[in-house]
Amino acid sequence: VQMRLRAGPWLAQAVAAACPEARRIAVVTDNHVAVVHAAPLMEALAASGLVASQHVITPGDGHKTLQTCAALYDALADAEIGRNDALVALGGGVVGDITGFVASTYLRGVAYVQIPTTTLAAVDASIGAKTAVNTHRGKNLVGSFYAPQAVLIALSHLTTQARRSHAAGLVEAVKMAITLDAAAFARIQSQLPALLAYSGEALAEVVGAAVGQKAEVVRADGRDRGRRAVLNFGHTVGHAIEAGEDYRLLHGEAVALGMVAETQYAEAAGLCSGVLQPLTQTLLAMNMPVDWRRANLHVGALKCDKKRSGNTIVLPVVPEIGRASLHSVPLDKLVAFVTDGTQP
Ligand SMILES: NC(=O)c1ccc[n+]([C@@H]2O[C@H](COP(=O)([O-])OP(=O)(O)OC[C@H]3O[C@@H](n4cnc5c(N)ncnc54)[C@H](O)[C@@H]3O)[C@@H](O)[C@H]2O)c1
Ligand SMILES: [Zn+2]
Repeated sequence: VQMRLRAGPWLAQAVAAACPEARRIAVVTDNHVAVVHAAPLMEALAASGLVASQHVITPGDGHKTLQTCAALYDALADAEIGRNDALVALGGGVVGDITGFVASTYLRGVAYVQIPTTTLAAVDASIGAKTAVNTHRGKNLVGSFYAPQAVLIALSHLTTQARRSHAAGLVEAVKMAITLDAAAFARIQSQLPALLAYSGEALAEVVGAAVGQKAEVVRADGRDRGRRAVLNFGHTVGHAIEAGEDYRLLHGEAVALGMVAETQYAEAAGLCSGVLQPLTQTLLAMNMPVDWRRANLHVGALKCDKKRSGNTIVLPVVPEIGRASLHSVPLDKLVAFVTDGTQP
């Protein structure tokens, strides 16, 4: 992972250095990002002596599909992208996930580089080597573990995002800090106004810390069979709210609600105390919703959670800020708590 304040020719040079065999580079991006950030990258790639082609997909999670992949495979073949060539994902998590999946399957695997342009992609989606697409049966149902050659973060890319998307992306940084690093959580709290205003200095610190925290968890459990589950804090209830609200909330907003709900459950079950208040305060200061009882929740989604085994579900709990432990929680108790407030 390389991070700098400003985008510039260094991005193309870093792509070339990360993929030394590549002669052709296919830059995958979406319509929104292409308009604001693609041209300088395309020019710099050409200036580095690479043959660069641009492949623009339609924005939105609804287009993270096998159909979009099929169109990309054809476009890559037309652009004569070969085994030694490389893809670049310039965009948010949707572009990153789809480019990673296409890279892992086109010609049985070609190199790729992530250039995340949303806060969520910078702190979370571009780190950890998971790629995925959605199918009619579910989100992220088809995918692979496939690591990029490099992740290149230019913090200036993040400044063109909508404020709401930026703040929601920072929720994942809050999640990693509160579960893994108390000092990082305190820094986020103290720098919130600067962070929300895209201050490069504040972002460098917080994005850098989040990337390091996620990378460390992933290093310990790359295939997501154990410790990596702490990254799921807020996501069990969060996913049920995302579905219950018909995906009108941003992912980070649903995770904010999910972290509050899961922490309230954990406090009621006597698994932790004292964390709810700083968590809620921080999220409120980020203009995130916290009143999860007013959100629609899809109970069916809770019951099909990927972390379920039998009648229990593994819930990350934060016993104190900066630390998380995994608890097997009876699914019926969690469902009763979130649906009608029955104390566990
Ligand atoms: N692989 C993983 O580990 C992982 C982790 C978390 C999330 N994800 C995935 O990430 C996706 C969500 O990512 P996201 O929140 O970045 O959404 P996104 O990629 O849909 O981007 C959000 C919106 O912002 C626009 N955009 C992106 N960068 C911009 C910029 N710099 N300026 C202006 N507009 C910009 C996009 O066009 C889009 O409309 C989901 O599909 C989710 O499943 C993957
Ligand atoms: Zn998430």
